[in-house]
Amino acid sequence: MSVVKIAPRGAVALLDAASVRADFPILDQQVNGRPLTYLDNGATTQKPQVVIDATTHYYRHDNANIHRGVHALSQRATEAFDSAREKVRALINASSTAEVIFTRGTTEAINLVAQSYGGSQLEAGDEVLVTAMEHHANIVPWQLLCAKTGAVLKVAPMDNQGALLLDSFAALLSERTRLVAVAHVSNALGTVNPVAELVRLARAAGAVTMIDGAQGAPHNRVDMQALGCDFYAFSGHKLYGPTGIGVLYGREALLDAMPPWQGGGDMIRTVSFEGSTWNDLPAKFEAGTPHIAGAIGLGAAIDYIEALGLERIAAHEQALLEYATGRALDQPGMRIIGTAGEKAAILSFSLAGIHPHDVATILDHEGVAIRAGHHCAMPVMTHFKVSATARASFGLYNNHADVDALFRAITRAQEFFSQ
Ligand code: ALA
Repeated sequence: MSVVKIAPRGAVALLDAASVRADFPILDQQVNGRPLTYLDNGATTQKPQVVIDATTHYYRHDNANIHRGVHALSQRATEAFDSAREKVRALINASSTAEVIFTRGTTEAINLVAQSYGGSQLEAGDEVLVTAMEHHANIVPWQLLCAKTGAVLKVAPMDNQGALLLDSFAALLSERTRLVAVAHVSNALGTVNPVAELVRLARAAGAVTMIDGAQGAPHNRVDMQALGCDFYAFSGHKLYGPTGIGVLYGREALLDAMPPWQGGGDMIRTVSFEGSTWNDLPAKFEAGTPHIAGAIGLGAAIDYIEALGLERIAAHEQALLEYATGRALDQPGMRIIGTAGEKAAILSFSLAGIHPHDVATILDHEGVAIRAGHHCAMPVMTHFKVSATARASFGLYNNHADVDALFRAITRAQEFFSQ
């Protein structure tokens, strides 16, 4: 079993988890008579007070539709919405805000690319390459596209640690590969894929690249210009922002050439019954009234994590993952599912003789929130010959005491089932 790689420390000051914890009011509660230990950050993160305040402030003071009104409220709402887009641009180092499309989340962003780019560019016999560790959101949209166009879905395999087999990935690339869609970080295993290298290989083969960054952007700094991908998607709610808001980054030249995928207000320049013309980017891909409060909340979340420092957050989470992995290796009857050399803050596991749902239920009785199930990654479960795993996933406010609480509760679950 490989050892989890620890992010280099020393270069960045460690995060003071006790003080950041106070920024998240929801964490200060008892669940089933125990202090809450929230370890389901892969599913969604909690929101700091500044995010709650930003959305409340919008609804309390500025609520109006954007880009449509000359009145003061509409102008304030528009300014706040546009400034949120600029915060996203700066966070991911996109070249311009034209490359930042607001979506409902990662899933919608991938569907947008599949339907608009894929639907207009792919033909029968073309290939889409994904990996064996994808979330359903980075499988099913491509299956739908393949069914419509006659393109073929190819799958790059992983090894039994949950690491992508790079040689196999490279061997699957050919002149037929039109699109490569890979997870930055596997939500079910925690594997961090070498996305820069994958993008380089894919581009050399002439393929367009889409990175599912749902579990990537929250745990590491991502830089679109350095990464060189064509598309990158992530969700606000996994980044300490609201649900229902996410981002599709797209290379401007590609977005420009793509047809709109949803029609409606704001995405048009002119409309007549003879035909319509499209607005400039990013509006072309944002039909209808967007999730204004969500975007503003996401902007506040970005301010928050930038103030803490993404590098410090990453180092803090790596230290927690290292500690939790060490504890797991010492825990009798515990199997870690996903032991790749490069991992983000996710610990998937099973306990001998106990169904993961029972593990999660007993942990909940102890106030410890984890997720159990197939994690919307059924092919990963098939690969590891399990129907489900239990999964603890860490965020910036977790600390060593949370890991201790997790293992106390795991021991209780084992004791309970051994009676
Ligand atoms: N995709 C999210 C998870 O991994 C919901 O839990």
